[in-house]
Formats: sequence, structure tokens, C-alpha cells
Amino acid sequence: MRPIPMTQDTLPGTTDRRLAGLLTLLAENSTIVISGARIAKEIGVSRSTVWRWVERLRELGVKVKGQPASGYFLERVPDILTPDMLRQRLKGSLFGKRIYHFFKTDSTNRVALELGHAGEPEGAVVLAEEQTAGRGRAGRTWLSERAAGIYLTLLLRPKLAPVQAPLLTMMAGLSAHAAVQAMTGLKVDLKWPNDVLIRGKKAGGILTEMHAEPEQIRFVAVGIGLNVNQEKFPGELANLATSLRVETGKPQSRLELLVRLLREFESDYNQFLREGAGRVVARFEALSSYASGKRVRVTNGVESYTGITAGLGPEGLLQVRRDDGQLSTVIAGDVAEAG
Ligand code: BTN
Repeated sequence: MRPIPMTQDTLPGTTDRRLAGLLTLLAENSTIVISGARIAKEIGVSRSTVWRWVERLRELGVKVKGQPASGYFLERVPDILTPDMLRQRLKGSLFGKRIYHFFKTDSTNRVALELGHAGEPEGAVVLAEEQTAGRGRAGRTWLSERAAGIYLTLLLRPKLAPVQAPLLTMMAGLSAHAAVQAMTGLKVDLKWPNDVLIRGKKAGGILTEMHAEPEQIRFVAVGIGLNVNQEKFPGELANLATSLRVETGKPQSRLELLVRLLREFESDYNQFLREGAGRVVARFEALSSYASGKRVRVTNGVESYTGITAGLGPEGLLQVRRDDGQLSTVIAGDVAEAG
């Protein structure tokens, strides 16, 4: 029996559609005080539920002013990525159809993989305002401060071999590159295969996880984390990470960035499925300072070596000319600039 696909209403922990409706209603009338009674009527809940949800939104950092007797209004329109707002902006897009939004979850990649196993169709988008166990590469964690970054996973079902999965990671990097550059004018670099860098610091990362047979991907979760409005980073991350806000000196719209990123990704993905990997590989090579001529150290489970990067192979794998002259292809492992 085929599994029944989930919906935003049936997947545990997702944002209640009516709570998102409350936010949309307040956002669309942001300077006007709306009575609790009118809100209750429009979204179809009781006045006491409206009051509880307003408290909930306040806990989540949304600046809702007013009280039950006088009515409510938003001090400023929040930059929250609710499915309603996104859907409006993504009409006709592969990614505008099935959007799962969480105020808080452990990891959007974990959720997307679960959806994949449950038969979710290609194109589902899982978004969180906050992750409590955001996953990074190599078992690291991804710090996911509430409503500061974009924490997003795309569920795809491409007819590809597992070895081609890094192409999707690269494609996500290219989309982030294009969106950030277009919205902020910042100079963005890409480090193979999954880092988005600004002035050498990490502004974003991609984690692609999949369920596959030896020859064929069943589904893949492309997880993208982008540091947007963080003002600072704790501990040793302070030296390694940056955000678009830190780099530009002003807050950026996560919604606009996300819409741009998804549109870019969709158009690259379609082209890739039609024409193959050539353009993705060529664009990554053109945009990444790491693709060729960079002295790097490669560390994988087996060994660690240094060399000079020598371009990407046809399937997007990084080639490194080792110090002993041998040409190696990096299939997995960490690549770091070497002094
Ligand atoms: C890395 O550079 O180590 C990859 C980081 C990927 C982080 C994103 S945030 C959204 C998605 N969900 C996760 O748990 N991880 C990815």
C-alpha cells in the first residue's frame, strides 16, 4: 500500500495553519488595531484562543501590541517565513506547493527525510524559525538562532546515481550565491562542496542527505542554512562565521532572500535535469576561488594530504594535484585552505 502523504496540518509540530493565518492578518493590517472578536471570526477560533496565540507569538519574538479589550496590532511586520506568505510569492513554482513550517524543530533535514520515507512528493519545502539540533557536515551541529537565519530543506526525487548527489549541494551553493549577491551586493565565495563564504568566513552551509539504492537515489534532502540577521556568534564561531547583517551593517529580509534562492534553485535544477551537469560544474568553477589553483589540505576518514586544486571533474568532484604530483579526486572529506 502506498503511504498517504502528510500535510502541514497532519505532520506533528508544524505551525498551525490558523496561527499562521493570525500572523498574516496582523501583517496585512499592520498599522491598524484589529479587535480580538474580528480576528477570532476571521480565523475561526475563540477569542481566548486568539489571546493565547498572541502570547505565543510574543514568546517567539513577534512584536504584537495591544490587549484583548482594545484589540491587537503589529508594531512592525515580522520577517517570519510562514507558508501563506511564501506561497503567494512562489506561485507556479515547484517549491510553492507543499511548505512545512515550524516555529521550532530539531532539524529540517530530519523532518524532510521522514517525509521522504512517508512518500512525500518532490518539491516539498521544510522551514524552521529555529532548530534545536541543526545538523552540519561531519556530525557537526548548525547553530540555528530563532528567526535570525534561513533553515530550510528541499525534498527532491531526481533520477540520479548517488555519486551525483554533490551536484545538488553545489547547485544549492550556487543559488545561495546568486540570491545573496543580488539582494546585498556582497562578494560571495563558494568552497567545494558546501560552504558559502564572505570575506573567508562562513555565511552558509549545505548538507545533502539521501536515501538511495546503490545505483539510484530514492530521495534526497538538500538542507541549506544561511546566516542572515545574526548580530554575533558565540565562542570560537565568532572567528569563523559571519552573517549578511554583520557584513552589510543592516538587517536583511529573509523572505526576499528565500524566494530568490528557491527561484534560482528551481531554474538550475530544471536545466540540470534537461541538459546534464555541465553548466552547474562550469558555474561553480567560475565562482569558487577554491575550484582551481588553491592550496588546500584534504582530510577524509583514511588520510590527510595537501595539494593544489585542479578543477572539477564532469560529475562535479574536486580534483587535487597532490604535492607528490598524483592527481586525486575528492569524493568525501573536508577541504581547507592550507598555508
Ligand atoms: C555545513 O556547512 O556543515 C552544513 C550546514 C547545513 C545546515 C542546514 S540548516 C537547515 C538544514 N537542516 C539541518 O539540520 N541542517 C541543514
